[in-house]
Amino acid sequence: MNKITSKELRNTWIKFYESKGHVNIGAVSLIGDGTTGVMFNVAGMQPLMPYLLGQKHSMGTRLCNVQGCVRTIDIDSVGDESHCTFFEMMGNWSLGDYFKKEKTAWTFELLTQKFGLDANKICATVFAGDDSAPKDTETAEYLQELGIRPENIFFLGKEDNWWELAGTTGTPCGPDNEWFYPLKPACGAEHCDINCECNRFVEIGNDVYMQYKKTENGYTPLQNKNVDTGFGFERLLMFLNGLTDVYMTDVFADVIDFVQNTIGKRYGDDLETTKSIRIIADHMRTSLMLIGDQNGIVPSNVGAGYILRRLMRRAIRHAKKIGLGVDKLANICEIFIDNVYSEAYPNLVNKKEYIISQVNLEVDKFNKTIEVGTKEFEKLANGISRKIEFLTKQNPDYVATTQDKTISGKSAFRLYDTFGFPIEMTLEMAGEIGLSVDVEGFRVAFAEHQELARTTSAGAFKSGLKETGEMETKYHTATHLLNAALKLVIGGSSHQMGSNITSERLRFDFACDHKMTEEELSKTQEIVNDWIKAGLDVTCKEMTKNEAVEMGAEHQFLDRYPDVVTVYSIGDVSNEICTGPHVKNTSELGKFVIKKEEASSSGVRRIKAILE
Ligand code: ALA
Repeated sequence: MNKITSKELRNTWIKFYESKGHVNIGAVSLIGDGTTGVMFNVAGMQPLMPYLLGQKHSMGTRLCNVQGCVRTIDIDSVGDESHCTFFEMMGNWSLGDYFKKEKTAWTFELLTQKFGLDANKICATVFAGDDSAPKDTETAEYLQELGIRPENIFFLGKEDNWWELAGTTGTPCGPDNEWFYPLKPACGAEHCDINCECNRFVEIGNDVYMQYKKTENGYTPLQNKNVDTGFGFERLLMFLNGLTDVYMTDVFADVIDFVQNTIGKRYGDDLETTKSIRIIADHMRTSLMLIGDQNGIVPSNVGAGYILRRLMRRAIRHAKKIGLGVDKLANICEIFIDNVYSEAYPNLVNKKEYIISQVNLEVDKFNKTIEVGTKEFEKLANGISRKIEFLTKQNPDYVATTQDKTISGKSAFRLYDTFGFPIEMTLEMAGEIGLSVDVEGFRVAFAEHQELARTTSAGAFKSGLKETGEMETKYHTATHLLNAALKLVIGGSSHQMGSNITSERLRFDFACDHKMTEEELSKTQEIVNDWIKAGLDVTCKEMTKNEAVEMGAEHQFLDRYPDVVTVYSIGDVSNEICTGPHVKNTSELGKFVIKKEEASSSGVRRIKAILE
């Protein structure tokens, strides 16, 4: 085996496939484009789906790249030696071009010639066949011809040798050929092969023969026979360097070094600390990739933004646990950007300041929450141990039941509702000290609370009071941003003529003498989203009406205001006389989308927009 650095591995992959006539198509955004319903890009083939289904690709029929992927399904396994929420997939594709013969030969050549693997030790699995597709004897024959020992080729069923995007239909799929290599000597069992429990073999990658389309009722053949190859970058890097821990590869080395030097403990010394270091390194890497992505997101309470928030908050908690100052999380991002990803992801270098500021913003916000929440959690946990102690004192034979060791749904909800402590965190902290959490009870408490909020607001509506829920508050702030953005796009003559907000959308009327063009609309939307992403603080100040006018604060009905008014400012982009309420920071808003632009009355246009 040839030792190799991450930079060399990246280049070797691309150069090798370029030498076989492939074009490097580069990587796309990590954030899902919505077409498959998945939030993040989970495989190299995902952006290529239309082409695997038959559409012509402008770069040809032989493509390759190294594509970042985010898979959060195994988030709870992160902390072990191999799981990561972000990873890179080295891929290459044939879009109806070459098929099994060339593909088996090239993978074999790459593994033996470039990576120096021993052909006698390579193992491969191929599809055993079932109702949907025949046994893949063809691939097995090519593998043998290349020099793979017949006893090292295994036929396995659909659960092992079939690849498709889970939970989708209308997507390309097919049987695959997986490649394995032993990490250590045989354990001595009678058949110490790829199925042996000693985990001697590591899967290094797979070649999928995508020739079917998944339908509601089964599979139909595609017009083209395609190849979709995926080799996990970090995993291969680990393996080629004779390691059994991805966190020991050069991708993580400087970050791990920084953490161990800062906390004064060595990685690998004790399992708990080691796990926390891995979680911090993994989660911060994914976070910086998501924030710095070409379609970057920021932490929020919905969708992908919520996943990002969860990742960051978990990293913050583990940083605290091992005594790593939370301000060091930004340093970790910086090390990844400067030392590992500057060449492959130049946009991260350009957005470094922004990424760091977003990380620090979330760290500050959560730091406060977590301090209070952790104390409350500890009180709960102490209460439980005192109760068990008491019961055992009363009766020395008493064995604590699961019930005794469970945090009630109500308590978990109180942690969430009153202290902003996420349920995932309660679960994780409880798990660490051998307690359970009544998650169902938490859900019930959550639902009851929502129901209560609904009836209360229905009551408020009946009595004629204006209701200002979380969404309304967000739309309120978004309206100020829209007003300010329109001034930049249309000019200073544009000002507010009316506004109406519900929990579903905002509606904004403004002076404008023409129908806005597509370009003006997209520019407006872009500016608002840039301000949201910039995480601007919203502040308010009381002042006299005159002072407000002097500072240029926006106003609609000056003569109706009292003498002392409140001016809400958003960063330095907007000042407006207003009674609020508003969010604290624009990063809470999510994504701003203009849905409609239409005439309202003469010289007045109307925009309807939503936050996603
Ligand atoms: N699509 C295959 C995978 O993700 C190559 O592993």
